[in-house]
Amino acid sequence: MSGLSGPPDWYKDAVVYEVGVRSFCDSDGDGYGDLKGLVSKLDYLADLGVTALWLLPLCPSPMRDDGYDIADYKGIHPQVGTLDDFRALIEAAHARGLRVITELVLNHTSDQHPWFQRARRAPKGHPDRDWYVWSDDPERYKGARVIFQDFEKTNWTWDADAKAYYWHRFYHHQPDLNFEHAPVREAILDVVDHWFGLGVDGLRLDAVPYLYEREGTSSENLPETHAFLKTLRAHVDAKWTGRMLLAEANQWPEDAVKYFGDGDECHMAFHFPLMPRLFMAMRREERRPIAEIMARTPAIPDNCQWALFLRNHDELTLEMVTDEERDYLWREYAKDPKARLNLGIRRRLAPLLDGDRRRMEMMTAMLLSLPGTPVLYYGDEIGMGDNLGLGDRNGVRTPMQWSPDRNAGFSTADASKLVQPLVTDPAYHWQTFNVELQKANESSFLNWTRRLLRLRARHPAFGRGSVTFVDAGTYHALAFVREFEGDRVLVACNLSRFTRPLPLDLSRWKGATPVELFGGVRFPPVADDRYQLTLGPRGFCWFALEGP
Ligand code: BGC
Repeated sequence: MSGLSGPPDWYKDAVVYEVGVRSFCDSDGDGYGDLKGLVSKLDYLADLGVTALWLLPLCPSPMRDDGYDIADYKGIHPQVGTLDDFRALIEAAHARGLRVITELVLNHTSDQHPWFQRARRAPKGHPDRDWYVWSDDPERYKGARVIFQDFEKTNWTWDADAKAYYWHRFYHHQPDLNFEHAPVREAILDVVDHWFGLGVDGLRLDAVPYLYEREGTSSENLPETHAFLKTLRAHVDAKWTGRMLLAEANQWPEDAVKYFGDGDECHMAFHFPLMPRLFMAMRREERRPIAEIMARTPAIPDNCQWALFLRNHDELTLEMVTDEERDYLWREYAKDPKARLNLGIRRRLAPLLDGDRRRMEMMTAMLLSLPGTPVLYYGDEIGMGDNLGLGDRNGVRTPMQWSPDRNAGFSTADASKLVQPLVTDPAYHWQTFNVELQKANESSFLNWTRRLLRLRARHPAFGRGSVTFVDAGTYHALAFVREFEGDRVLVACNLSRFTRPLPLDLSRWKGATPVELFGGVRFPPVADDRYQLTLGPRGFCWFALEGP
């Protein structure tokens, strides 16, 4: 059972905080963050104003892909604790009104998973072998792209035990499960029941577009994948209430939207194409990248919701942009070639924005006001830096910085034993960027974010409202109105680095009075003419639109 009451579509009002448990807080001094450590920080998270936690992989794993290489779907990795610790976390989170979302890595397992060990030894034609995708010919499914292109050349790897090639969309040590095989589908439903049974509120469906393969296609978004998702959803609806499925489908809007089905597949899906366009809009100081992708985004079923994000535990992926746009973003945001990884940029929010407070505020304000549920990445609320010296995506997975004390208050272990080294880049040193110091400073980014989250929580329009884009007289401005059952919020952003007049076309809301949300200051009512607003460099305003 889920310990929390509230509407079944709670995810529409949620603010999600993504936590790498291993990097968050270490309770036992072994250098790895753990579930008990996370429990000790729940008050911090509740006070910050987030309402749901998304926990990165927790299951037993050889950890060659930070736990996305699962060796046992039902256990907890000893580094982070035990199943009892997990139960305690759920209870403690629910007691504070926080929901918990965990990972369902269903496309692949680790090659150490007993299912794969059994499969590679089973003779051809034996049902045990069919749990994975085998071939004598590594030329099959040529239409499928290689995703981790800095590390893998092909999606087939030879297995000497099986004397055949196995299929993998990610690292070669992550063989893809064979969804054609009914026992695989049943096993995944059983895993879903296991975690929902433990009280989890939502599951993130990792790498969900790649479940099936078909010759002559890209082997992404296939009808068979959607058919399985409908079965999965029907199963969940029949057995559980108030649970959420979140699709990780890095796809163009018209493909991503299909993961909602007719409201009978996933409840949520990440909006991947919007994310790089927020960075593009910021750099080009123009609305167009955002406006275009929003116009290209189809309507979604009533019971569904986009998940929006700026940064996460992976590289800032540039798969959903054109080649020219990618070159532009690489040039502007990854001048140091070390910052580039696969088709993306392995940096955190603050360093991407040169630590510029105005741009950090503007990006956060857009994340929190555009239509969808915002997902914050741990540490970005204190403007944490990253470490390009670490391999793969580890540079954005360094320990959370709690205080100026030993190991930033993350762990009492010897510094050499930490899951990753702390950020010591002088511009982002943990002794300066940490929760304790920022809590004590009224004007810190942490306190600003906390205030913004409080304002957002007062207006259901942010989570549930319609969106109407408003002409602001200049391509440098992004302005829109969110409306839900009488709650109306006007958002105006000046993307330019100069102060600008923003003559807003608010004719639809004539007679309404804008009330600025931070200060509660009442502005002149909307009259016949354009509404004359002036915003400073990269300034933004949120107003309640009161009255008629
Ligand atoms: C996760 C990555 C992971 C990959 C393979 C992705 O979608 O976000 O961190 O490496 O799936 O499981």
